[in-house]
Amino acid sequence: MENLEQKAVNIDWGKLPFGYLKTDYNVRCYYRDGKWGELEVSSSEYISVHMAATGLHYGQQSFEGLKAFRGKDGKIRLFRWQENAKRMQDSAKGILMAEVPTNIFRDAVIKAIRLNEKFIPPYGSGASLYIRPLLYGSGAQVGVKPADEYLFIVFVTPVGPYFKQGFKPVDMLITPEFDRAAPLGTGSIKVGGNYAASLIAMKKAHDQGFANVVFLDAKEKKYIDECGPANFFAIKGNKYITPKSTSILPSITNKCLEEIAKSLGMTIERRSVALEELSEFEEVGACGTAAVISPIKKIVDDQSGRVYEYCKDGNPGPISTKFYNLLLGIQNGDLEDKFGWTEVV
Ligand code: PLP
Ligand code: COI
Repeated sequence: MENLEQKAVNIDWGKLPFGYLKTDYNVRCYYRDGKWGELEVSSSEYISVHMAATGLHYGQQSFEGLKAFRGKDGKIRLFRWQENAKRMQDSAKGILMAEVPTNIFRDAVIKAIRLNEKFIPPYGSGASLYIRPLLYGSGAQVGVKPADEYLFIVFVTPVGPYFKQGFKPVDMLITPEFDRAAPLGTGSIKVGGNYAASLIAMKKAHDQGFANVVFLDAKEKKYIDECGPANFFAIKGNKYITPKSTSILPSITNKCLEEIAKSLGMTIERRSVALEELSEFEEVGACGTAAVISPIKKIVDDQSGRVYEYCKDGNPGPISTKFYNLLLGIQNGDLEDKFGWTEVV
């Protein structure tokens, strides 16, 4: 399979949205009889699912998102896959699924990248290869209990920016009538149910012209949680501030920004961030694998009617711009990876 000819593909890389585009192969691995099997390569986009699979009925499902980049030197760099492997294990623990061992996660991701090499966007196109590992309970149950069988799949798809504006300031909506996750629920792991719970709030935001939602903590509605499928960060003086909450996903991009901020001599504050503080920040943004860094220019709270504004000249703030250039420079291989985040595959 690996030696199959990689014919060129006809894709307008610069215009790619963040969406699904069919590639040639995906990689699968089954957990049956208490153990993981061998990796299998498939050219089908479809899976045959048992109608009583726990992944369908009881939400035993988790996914990940990571990226690979083509450098100017032609090399393919995979970004911080170890963190995604670990987070998928945490998600599996959280909803009693079989954990994908780190070596299987890595082998499947690398195989999926190599088999679909022609779909890796070229250097300088602004696009990247998005890798989507998926794990779900494939075994049948009717009572509410964990499955005995699981399927782990990795597919890839070339993507452009998540927010169609790219690295341009976006508007966000606070709509406290909806929660994404409960304080001691599943918000801190990457399971599909959290995204289902966010759809209605996101639709409301999109319908009103906002890029996404800033969710508040579900208990007191006083603190910032996160920004749809991305974490929230703020800059105040020399401080990098990001929420600490039991209901947000620990973002790998956010960790990177903390490390970058530290390396620039900034102070890191990971703590509860009260809603009122929004008026004190100089820059605010959303960060995530798909979102990269999305500077925010306006946050509207539709309950209190308050409006918080940033980027008054219409451009991303200087610190967010610095972060963006450093992060992308490392991912593309233009800058030295002092942090050891990339692996050439
Ligand atoms: N928060 C949520 C809810 C997400 O879905 C994501 C995306 O994975 C993030 C934050 C950002 O996490 P990461 O930077 O690891 O992609
Ligand atoms: C990611 O950034 O990888 C995400 O998971 C966001 C996604 C839900 C689109």
